[in-house]
Amino acid sequence: MRSEAVGCDAVVWAARERSEQERETPAERVLAVERLSAPVDLSDPATFARGIPQAAFAEMRSRPTLSWTPPRGGDRAGFWSVTRHEPLSEVSRNTEVYSSAVGHIQIYDIDSDALSARASMIDLDPPVHTRLRRLVSSAFTPRHVQSYEAAVRTRIGARLDALAAAGGGDWVEAVAAPIPIGVICDIMGVPESDHDYMIELTDHLVAGTSSRPLEPNAYGNTTELRLLPFNSPAAHGINEYARTLGERRRVEPADDLVTKLIEAEVDGERLSDAEFTNFFRLMVFAGNETTRASMAHLALHLVEFAEEFERVRRDPSLTAQAAEEVIRYSSPILYFRRTVTRDTVLQDTPLHAGDKVVMWYAAANFDSEVFHDPLRFDVARPLRPPNVAFGGGGAHFCLGAPLARLEVAILIEEILQRGLCLEIASDPVYVDSNFVNGIEHLEVALR
Ligand code: HEM
Repeated sequence: MRSEAVGCDAVVWAARERSEQERETPAERVLAVERLSAPVDLSDPATFARGIPQAAFAEMRSRPTLSWTPPRGGDRAGFWSVTRHEPLSEVSRNTEVYSSAVGHIQIYDIDSDALSARASMIDLDPPVHTRLRRLVSSAFTPRHVQSYEAAVRTRIGARLDALAAAGGGDWVEAVAAPIPIGVICDIMGVPESDHDYMIELTDHLVAGTSSRPLEPNAYGNTTELRLLPFNSPAAHGINEYARTLGERRRVEPADDLVTKLIEAEVDGERLSDAEFTNFFRLMVFAGNETTRASMAHLALHLVEFAEEFERVRRDPSLTAQAAEEVIRYSSPILYFRRTVTRDTVLQDTPLHAGDKVVMWYAAANFDSEVFHDPLRFDVARPLRPPNVAFGGGGAHFCLGAPLARLEVAILIEEILQRGLCLEIASDPVYVDSNFVNGIEHLEVALR
């Protein structure tokens, strides 16, 4: 059904000469579509070396159809990019047609044995996903999260005071990195003395998506890298740590999430060793790297949009909206991918079973159809329609969204209450990744 003009960027599909009745699937009913290639290589971390590629994403959003990235050889299949808010939400909410369990939710497929070795709930579809999510969801409801407020505030206050006393330093190392990991580790039950080790391991986990991966045997790893999340030996380190902590909690239960997971039953059965370690790794990674990216970007926002934060200082009722704007503007997770399970049409683009669809949250968060003057940083931006930094809605909507919002809001409050004045002392060094919009180093002076 597809006729491709080899060597051309724009490829035209022509429907086969068939009668109307024979064209059964919605994909086949779309007779001809121009296949437009993405203007930049979205699979290359270098494309994100200075943050979100706004111009390329704007061009892609303006197109009538999805944009195409051709196959890169081997198992690197081509993929469709979704850059507008509405079709992105459609993909995110329809888990029957757009699966997280088939292929992989990152940009390229991995072998099925690798997929099952590393699968956590984020890589599964309902109903299995639903049963696992239920085990932890009560700890992250907006109501329950309020009970973490005092501990979060204490952590944030201590970090800010230390950095202010030093007159400044690396904002990421001093503030953005230790706070989210501290909070999620407290919830999981990881002792304070191990928090730095968790930061190190999760840093290396993302480095697995970059062009500077670790040595394969780091952290005593002996597992084939392709079986490990992000192909990183740091995943082995996290798994080993989780196993040891789990064993300790079996003997000495505590009021924490690791104990809850060790004792939990799904359909009358305890979690297997792999289910438990994969769960632990997901929570530590997801609860950490993401919020940290927003907190790192916040330092830049505080300087670049100082007058906006002055509005918040004068009217603290804007704090929650300001935190949401920081999260939209930083879009810490650039994308997640889905695999199409049956022929369908999305944004006038025919899709076939097996096709790969990448949801670029960092593009849809600047969709002018939804966000007025999207490149403007506006602390009073309405909360509805919601941005898609936490996903486009549906089964996998970020479990930790209420916690992340609380952490960023408290950080803003504590900075403003102390009257801290930031100056950026170095260019930000971005994380070398096409998956996380993170900042690795950012020197600041603090008064
Ligand atoms: C600004 C901070 C955060 C951002 C931008 C973010 C982003 C996201 C996104 C985009 C997804 C959707 C995945 C998908 O649809 O496939 C997600 C899922 C998830 N997030 Fe977050 N996240 C943040 C903070 C957190 C925190 C603090 C936690 C701590 C618990 C967390 C835990 C999770 C988990 C467990 C999932 C998987 C949910 C599921 O599969 O049902 N996240 N997050």
